Amino acid sequence: MSEVILAVETSCDETAAAVVEGGTKVRANIVASQSIHRRFGGVVPEIASRRHLENIPVVVQEALDQAAISLADVHAVAATYGPGLVGALLVGLSYAKALAYALEKPFIGVHHLIGHIYAGFLEYPDLPLPAVCLVVSGGHTALLYLESHGRRYLMGATRDDAAGEAFDKVARALGLGYPGGPELERLAGRGNPAAVPFPRAWLEEGSLDFSFSGLKTAVLNYLRQEQQAGREINLADVAASFQQAVVDVLVGKTIKAAKRAPAVRSLLAVGGVASNEALRRALSVAAREAGLPVFIPRRAFCTDNAAMIACAAHYQYLRGEFSSLDLDAVPHLPLVESVVESPMGPLGP
Ligand code: KG4
Ligand code: ZN
Repeated sequence: MSEVILAVETSCDETAAAVVEGGTKVRANIVASQSIHRRFGGVVPEIASRRHLENIPVVVQEALDQAAISLADVHAVAATYGPGLVGALLVGLSYAKALAYALEKPFIGVHHLIGHIYAGFLEYPDLPLPAVCLVVSGGHTALLYLESHGRRYLMGATRDDAAGEAFDKVARALGLGYPGGPELERLAGRGNPAAVPFPRAWLEEGSLDFSFSGLKTAVLNYLRQEQQAGREINLADVAASFQQAVVDVLVGKTIKAAKRAPAVRSLLAVGGVASNEALRRALSVAAREAGLPVFIPRRAFCTDNAAMIACAAHYQYLRGEFSSLDLDAVPHLPLVESVVESPMGPLGP
């Protein structure tokens, strides 16, 4: 039998625990979402930490029950140690370290973004490498070159807002609830994506970086201008046009990265925004035209979950990369910590 990893993830407002065997067999995947933040229009860090504290023992027990195992059957305990909200991270991290100590089993700290990437390998363990991976979450937007499991290069990243952050901010301007991404996608489904010509930030010739703050401002300006002119605003058209502008840039740059990097055999898209159907469809079409297979995990593995953390921990486990029990939470853990090679390596600007 392959090793069984118990993982927890508490970097933001989801309290999650999972049991994964051999890196791919998801025996339990429990996510408790904290709906309390909706009324505030965003995550309140203090409340998130307190809720994690209440939820974590329950969620872990539920994961063990669903997997039909006891703690004695666990070979290693993993947890996200950053980036994220410090108080939130500390709950899951401390809980996992204490468990590992009590069980006398190895502890594995996981970078949240590497967790997102490994959602791809959780679902598609034989995903052909090298791959170009688009990471699109609420906190990050980046393109990575995955040469092998141990070697990652950063090819581009956002210079301001992350894609998910732009979705959330525009959703709020459109009067939608939090989190904005899924609600905006629903509204966009009834609109015309070509109705408003919002700008696409391609940046300098050849750049694989992103910028979404200009687009967000363009949407806010458009809404204000139409309101002042007394014209009726078709919110579904605005949502669809905004979504299309984001999708065009994400897909365009992913394909550009795939053409530039050596020997690319597949594309991967991960993170909360990768659950967006318009992005999934557009990336699939563009990948087919480029002659590359594209892999996008199911929605439940795109948004925050602990199964992806367990999968990332599996590969660290195989390499014997265990963490010390004094590993601290790192709220601003940089993106480059998720790459083992210099970001200015062979694929740098
Ligand atoms: O990966 P994730 O669950 O958490 C972070 O690590 O940030 O991503 C959350 C982000 C939020 O900004 C949310 O609005 C966005 O992903 N998101 C979406 C969709 N579902 C979640 N954005 C666009 N369309 C969606 N369907
Ligand atoms: Zn995330």
